[in-house]
Amino acid sequence: MSFARSATALKAIARQAPAVRSYSALARRAATASVSRSAPQFVVNDSEVVYERSDWPLPKLQEYLKDETLAMIGYGSQGHGQGLNARDQGINIIVGVREGGQSWKEAIEDGWVPGKTLFPIEEAIDRGTIIMNLLSDAAQSQTWDQLKPLITKGKTLYFAHGFSVVFAKDTGVVCPEDVDVILVAPKGSGRTVRTLFKEGRGINASIAVHQDVTGKAKEKARALAVAVGSGYAYETTFEKEVYSDLYGERGVLMGGIQGMFKAQYEAFNETVEEATQSLFPLIGAYGMDYMFAACSSDHRPPWCPRLGPKFEAANRPVFEALYASVKDGSETRRSLEFNGRKTYREDFQKELDEIDAQEIWRAGKTVRALRPDVKA
Ligand SMILES: NC(=O)c1ccc[n+]([C@@H]2O[C@H](COP(=O)([O-])OP(=O)(O)OC[C@H]3O[C@@H](n4cnc5c(N)ncnc54)[C@H](OP(=O)(O)O)[C@@H]3O)[C@@H](O)[C@H]2O)c1
Repeated sequence: MSFARSATALKAIARQAPAVRSYSALARRAATASVSRSAPQFVVNDSEVVYERSDWPLPKLQEYLKDETLAMIGYGSQGHGQGLNARDQGINIIVGVREGGQSWKEAIEDGWVPGKTLFPIEEAIDRGTIIMNLLSDAAQSQTWDQLKPLITKGKTLYFAHGFSVVFAKDTGVVCPEDVDVILVAPKGSGRTVRTLFKEGRGINASIAVHQDVTGKAKEKARALAVAVGSGYAYETTFEKEVYSDLYGERGVLMGGIQGMFKAQYEAFNETVEEATQSLFPLIGAYGMDYMFAACSSDHRPPWCPRLGPKFEAANRPVFEALYASVKDGSETRRSLEFNGRKTYREDFQKELDEIDAQEIWRAGKTVRALRPDVKA
């Protein structure tokens, strides 16, 4: 099946019943269209396998992991979401964090019990068979020399992002050679990992294998994706995951959207209520063409197709420079420097405060407060 057809088929499914659609239609789809541009990019020309939660009914999952102890190292955004999802499914899991730190307190609030299911990091690694390194990426690098000797033969090392391993030259995270090293990277924040699981849905994730000493690494990654709350998972590599993740989040997701919204506001005091409330959710549910078609005739094509290429041309150099800085590791070094500071929480808060103080978002706050559902 061609990629284009596949996308159309998906959209048709979404239009029929978005809330309950089965992802089985995604499985084993073959993507054959290839894109050719001069900029570095991911070319969609491989067949893609999608694994589903239905491959792992709960009794099978519990049986598969019955002799394992998952040691969740770090209890931030991902640790919270993945840890609680695994615990709710009856998987044997413990948490390891700095004693007395913020995560330690949060873990206790979430019902992890010191000495039973909550331990200092080293002790949790010692007790665990699957070591899930969910420290922040900067912390993974800072703590690696102490933690690496504890990850002994027979254990499995798990990451939620390829960052530390792919940029080992900068992070120092060179994995022990005698353990399986796998990746389960949920495509969203840990809060979303948790919310979607509780809604009975399950986030999508990508899975990958960096080292397979047992011959079972991929199977483990598939099972663990379900254990931490994924609904379905795509196979990738550590490299592709990290390049696409760093590039994507710094691109449209964060840098692009903030920059475009602000530029539009500064040019014309235009708030973004219509985009966030009305139109963008339609793109998420049904695709861009559907959103265009849902607008009244005065606002829809040919305006959008005519203007789209202008924005594309203006933005392309920014994206190309961004991609280059991801690939050559400069973004990694920036991230390690910033998130490795003792004051990283305060410094990050300062950045958030700066955005919050911008007129567009102060206007946003006022406008949101006027929404009928908020006022009611
Ligand atoms: N957030 C996302 O959207 C997302 C999505 C997919 C994958 N990931 C990946 O998941 C992993 C975890 O990310 P996250 O967002 O959950 O991180 P996070 O919320 O920043 O969590 C940080 C954790 O690291 C601990 N920590 C920080 N510095 C430490 C140090 N020097 N020594 C020991 N512990 C330290 C913190 O403990 P304290 O409270 O004690 O400081 C906390 O438990 C990363 O590899 C990330 O790339 C994240």
